[in-house]
Amino acid sequence: MSGGTSHRRDPAPEAQRNGPGIRVVGARENNLKDVSLVVPRDRITVFVGVSGSGKSSLAFDTVAVEAQRQLNAAFPVSVRNQLPKYERPHVEAVLNLTAPIVVDQQPLTGNARSTVGTITDVYSLIRVLFAQHTEPGPVHPSLYSFNAPNGMCTGCEGIGRALRPDPDLMLDSTKSLDEGPILVPGYPVGSPGWQYYANYEGLDAKKRLSDYSEEEWHTLLHGVEGTVDLTYKNGRTQTIKYEGLVAAFTKKYLKRDIESLGEKTREMAKRFIAEGPCPDCDGARLNPTALATRIGGRNIAEWSRMQISDLAELLAGLDDGVRGPMTETVRESLVRIEAIGLGYLSLDRATTSLSGGEGQRLKMVKHLGSDLTGLTYFFDEPSAGLHPRNVGQLNALLRALRDKGNTVLVVEHDPDVIAIADHVVEIGPGAGDAGGRIVFEGPVEELLATETVTGTSLRGSGKVKTDCASRTAS
Ligand SMILES: Nc1ncnc2c1ncn2[C@@H]1O[C@H](COP(=O)(O)OP(=O)(O)OP(=O)(O)O)[C@@H](O)[C@H]1O
Ligand SMILES: [Mg+2]
Ligand SMILES: [Zn+2]
Repeated sequence: MSGGTSHRRDPAPEAQRNGPGIRVVGARENNLKDVSLVVPRDRITVFVGVSGSGKSSLAFDTVAVEAQRQLNAAFPVSVRNQLPKYERPHVEAVLNLTAPIVVDQQPLTGNARSTVGTITDVYSLIRVLFAQHTEPGPVHPSLYSFNAPNGMCTGCEGIGRALRPDPDLMLDSTKSLDEGPILVPGYPVGSPGWQYYANYEGLDAKKRLSDYSEEEWHTLLHGVEGTVDLTYKNGRTQTIKYEGLVAAFTKKYLKRDIESLGEKTREMAKRFIAEGPCPDCDGARLNPTALATRIGGRNIAEWSRMQISDLAELLAGLDDGVRGPMTETVRESLVRIEAIGLGYLSLDRATTSLSGGEGQRLKMVKHLGSDLTGLTYFFDEPSAGLHPRNVGQLNALLRALRDKGNTVLVVEHDPDVIAIADHVVEIGPGAGDAGGRIVFEGPVEELLATETVTGTSLRGSGKVKTDCASRTAS
């Protein structure tokens, strides 16, 4: 390579055809060596080069930051004060920018209330759908929002989790009732507390708790049927209404003013309490009114718990009476999530638990559903963490964004993604101070004919098969 200038084409004819491209003049951020270039408008431009060569410095730290800074500067000071602050990057000028959307791998800023459903806006669509199908008549969609007072479960205020007595902490399930399995103080073998369960005819005192059926567990923990006979030390007997262990514990230690319990008792009770699904809504986050409405045999919480791919199928199979434009809109949104390989997620998954790659692809889905055009999108290695079979779908999404009339900038190593570039910019030739220059810019077919690091490796990968490439090879 002779300094890398032989492949410069300035300005790119492609860029001129599509109106003024984004013109970067004199970029010196990080390791960039006074870089100037034009990024064509309404096209996919992929930034390539070895690690540390300066791709992020150019695409993100220079172009994206300057776009965000210029956009914010357009707002009045009162608004600007509430927006993130962007330092002017080390660059002479960046011209012809449009409003930026940065889809990076920063973890999704979410809290306990942010889910796959809310971040993609699919949950809002589903709420409207359920509101339309509420009997006796449609209601406001907020009835189905776990973030709204009229929708949320009052027990957990819409979080779906709460402090509750934890049976795993309360019981030694390797023992039978006869062997004294209850670890909460007050239930030693022979005591009236113990007789409550050991004498109860709904339970087998000889059976190990780990061998209990689901029904027996329910009786032990939550049962309320029938009575039980107790014998006290003084020989007196009494017949009492039966009450499951969790219900009894809750009444004794949780439902009363915690301050009225002595400190020792409070400390003791705490040992048997853990955070888990809210007992009122069983993790569904919503109140019983909201959970009463069913579409396709399931309530909205059950919809949210399903795998997205299964939910899309459920929607496709709905009766004609239920199907309509709204169900179709919801189904299309779900299919978009499936299309980028995230059909295995459920809408109720907390965004805080997603990986960086999963989060980035979800952010993409949201934008694909939007009708805004004329934006500039920035993607940071969108193929990261993606199974190779889903790269084709990712490419389809990038193209869809472009075809809606947006400019798309992608930093990417994956040859399959590079292959769909309308325009490639290679930064290099080396890393750090040995990089920071443009060593190639032009269409991907021309990159294949160069001796740059990326050109050479792309030829080797055999991933990019173009007329030009085959001409070069033969
Ligand atoms: N904030 C910074 N301060 C100082 N140097 C930086 C800073 N950010 C990046 N650099 C340096 O600038 C050079 C280019 O970094 P950049 O992040 O742009 O590389 P990259 O091409 O995006 O690499 P990768 O493929 O690994 O993401 C590297 O040598 C890097 O160490
Ligand atoms: Mg980078
Ligand atoms: Zn609840």
